[in-house]
Amino acid sequence: MTPTLEFPLSRRAQNAAGQPISSLMQQALAHPELISLAAGFVDQASLPVELTSAAATSLVSDPVRAREALQYGTAAGHQPLREIVLQRHRNDDGLPACEDQLSVENVVLTAGSNQLLHLVADTILNEGDLVLCGAPTYFVFMGALANLGARSHGVACDDGGLIPEALEDELRRIEAAGELERVKAIYVVSYFDNPSGITLAAERRPQIVEIAKRWSKKQHIYVLDDAAYRSLRYSGEDVPSLQAYDETGETVIVAQTFSKSFSPGIRVGWGILPSALVEPVLNQKGNIDFGSPHFAQHLMAQVLSSGEFDNHVAVLRESYREKQTAMIKAAKEFFSSLDGVHYVKPQGGLYLWMQVPESIDTGIDGKLFAAALQEGVMYVPGIYCYPMEGAPRRHNLMRLSFGVQTPDGIQEGMQKLAAAVRQVL
Ligand SMILES: Cc1ncc(COP(=O)(O)O)c(C=O)c1O
Repeated sequence: MTPTLEFPLSRRAQNAAGQPISSLMQQALAHPELISLAAGFVDQASLPVELTSAAATSLVSDPVRAREALQYGTAAGHQPLREIVLQRHRNDDGLPACEDQLSVENVVLTAGSNQLLHLVADTILNEGDLVLCGAPTYFVFMGALANLGARSHGVACDDGGLIPEALEDELRRIEAAGELERVKAIYVVSYFDNPSGITLAAERRPQIVEIAKRWSKKQHIYVLDDAAYRSLRYSGEDVPSLQAYDETGETVIVAQTFSKSFSPGIRVGWGILPSALVEPVLNQKGNIDFGSPHFAQHLMAQVLSSGEFDNHVAVLRESYREKQTAMIKAAKEFFSSLDGVHYVKPQGGLYLWMQVPESIDTGIDGKLFAAALQEGVMYVPGIYCYPMEGAPRRHNLMRLSFGVQTPDGIQEGMQKLAAAVRQVL
């Protein structure tokens, strides 16, 4: 008799199992009739079909450029696009080129900013290492950390985002536990956070960079500034990235993307890295794909050079502003009579972070999730967004996304959700 063979999996593959996103996708697929306030997709109707078509046509109409774009590129990516994103970053931060420490050599193009986040984590973290992040924070990044055997450690947040004093408290606790040397990075989603919608307050930005530098006692603690939603602002003034406060250019890593402002299907993201990290990150990337899709990078360079990109983003902002208004209006209309409901209107992004009464567990196995499915609406349970260590995990929050649904769909979804909350109270 042939012996039964084992199918061994690496520890990393085992760590990758059980992601929240898979169970949510399963629920969505099993109930196609649902109004999903869970999906973090961008608005289907405003995807830039004409702009992409014009850019692709222009690109392929020149055989020399077309062949270049259709060939492999370098690990760091298409040089003209790297120059454009650096220049745009400087303009956004109001920094003249002569005043910052960065050059195009610090820019690495990736297949979306998720790849950059993963590459950085893979480059700086060993098993058991710690990344401090907001409680709550972007759950996909926590998944990437878990995958590598690293740990996410929560820091308390308020309406101004990550609280610098709480960050120092956690660092003190970690030091007292003899683990300071395991802290390798502080991760912040600094504009219109996923999931909380909060923008890190302007005065906290230099403080967080200063804390990272001061606590870099034996090893460097990086600040990973995830600015994925920066261009989706609907009110208030833009604030400089954390990188603007990194005078030596050694501490802050910026992760950015065209997924939200243009198209996640093209999936071009980038990182602006401290010089010491560029080569190690490129070495990792060299082993993985030795360059992200080159055609997509040429296409984005063409779109940006056409001068139409900013007009598109302006139209997009209008469309999302309308959707956000619909969600806030519906929240007021259907939830204001419920005690214990709390939310802050974000100045941009795609999410509303809603707290329901303490007595309600918003988790996937809780009564509210089931009642919401029965009413015909779905949300992301907040518990997925909390790190396993550090600041307490909370069970009575939900992430509501207004990116995908129409304003009418949002209104209907919110009405159904409020009905579900009433049912379980
Ligand atoms: C906070 C945050 N960072 C990064 C990403 C990754 O986006 P992409 O890989 O498409 O650039 C997302 C996507 O939803 C996000 O919400």
